[in-house]
Amino acid sequence: GELVPWRGECRTVLSPVCVRQADGRVAQLEIGSVPVMGVEESDQALAAAVRAWDHGRGEWPTMSTAQRIACMQDFVRRMAAQRDTVVRLIMWEIGKSLADSRKEFDRTLEYIEATLAALKNLDNDSSRFAQAEGFIGQIRRTPLGVVLCMGPYNYPLNETFATLIPALLMGNTVVFKPPQYGTLLFAPLLEAFRSAFPPGVVNTLYAPGAVAVPRLLASGQVNVLALIGSSKVADHLKKQHPRSHRLRAVLGLDAKNAAIVLPDADLDLAVRECVAGALSFNGQRCTALKMLLVHRSIVQPFLQRLSAAIDALKIGMPWEDGVQITPLPGPHRTAYMDEALRDARDKGARVINAGGGESCATLYRPALVYPVREGMKLYREEQFGPLVPVADFEDIEEALQYVVTSEHGQQVSLFGSDPARLGALIDPLVNQVCRVNLNSQCQRGPDVFPFAGRKDSAEGTLSVSDALRAFSIRSMVAARQ
Ligand code: G3H
Repeated sequence: GELVPWRGECRTVLSPVCVRQADGRVAQLEIGSVPVMGVEESDQALAAAVRAWDHGRGEWPTMSTAQRIACMQDFVRRMAAQRDTVVRLIMWEIGKSLADSRKEFDRTLEYIEATLAALKNLDNDSSRFAQAEGFIGQIRRTPLGVVLCMGPYNYPLNETFATLIPALLMGNTVVFKPPQYGTLLFAPLLEAFRSAFPPGVVNTLYAPGAVAVPRLLASGQVNVLALIGSSKVADHLKKQHPRSHRLRAVLGLDAKNAAIVLPDADLDLAVRECVAGALSFNGQRCTALKMLLVHRSIVQPFLQRLSAAIDALKIGMPWEDGVQITPLPGPHRTAYMDEALRDARDKGARVINAGGGESCATLYRPALVYPVREGMKLYREEQFGPLVPVADFEDIEEALQYVVTSEHGQQVSLFGSDPARLGALIDPLVNQVCRVNLNSQCQRGPDVFPFAGRKDSAEGTLSVSDALRAFSIRSMVAARQ
């Protein structure tokens, strides 16, 4: 809750965008630096959040909902004034197109507005009473304590605020750690946090996750872990927490969403949705389509059209108009794509589109890969990048088995034109994933819809009102009548 001058070590922030240096070398552009905080600062941030919580007696947790809403509206005004700066930082830091960086910012403001509206209708006002068996009770929603929030690099602002904002609005105090990529963009918002909220309510920790986060959790003083990231990290972190204390978790994790394309699908529509679903922001979305299962009778025309659509995508720099494929965060990501592609090729798959898998520094040309089979990395691993694996099936049961045996359970897309056939597939699928999309790609929005996952894909639900519930508990005051 205070702006603290930093005189310690800093790390250079590199953009995904590469430039040719004077000596001819191609290197990622240096765009700024951020503090490398250590255990001392982590402890200070946690202590500030614990003090502001003060066993639920702090100024923020005891404030009325109306007062908290006023503080948040003040924050929103200050944040809106930083739009251009934050948008440009998103673009430079993670290589998201300028148009999509603007969308991320605006969508975040809309998300906050929708959360404020949902809060007004939540069962937390003191005029709500229940009567039963001679008792009368006043029911309200109360905060949980100190929340540790961490978002991912692909939606650094939106997904961090998807937990931070509802956590704050419900009266919790927060420590938040910006993602490794997508971290500078929070700097213009620090003053807004400081001005809008009481001291210690929002604490921004610029520390490497591996140093700070296990320590925060081991303290036993964090009540809720809110992470949108990988299930591996979530499992590791949960283990750091002392067993004697309960840790709640709100987690948005890995996904390997599949599209199932039936023989009677409208192919143009399916191709359009699959390209957008698999390759928006280079496939770096948890909701991206990461496996396409296509009926054998239509797989060849499907591949032909999909390959042409992928070749038509505009590859370039994030500030260019209409650009669709932009640089990946660093060489480690292009190396992963190469490795997954090599593995698929070694095991019998081909790259269907011209030049698929070619790269130039951090720019990677999307590759359509077919036939992808069990045993290849691409069959089960979440590629989180511009690789589009396709497998074919004869019997729909094979496609359903892919979903049933997956470790993930976020979403599925289903393409077909016979309503009865689609209808018959909904029930088996909706008990395996949390959203079945009919003739459309997988996606999170509209953000008022529930956003959840089964198996290794999530814990808790993150729509607007569900998130408010996730960061609070229903409590009551009861008396005999
Ligand atoms: O990475 C996960 C995001 O929540 C995806 O959101 O489907 O709107 O791109 P989106």
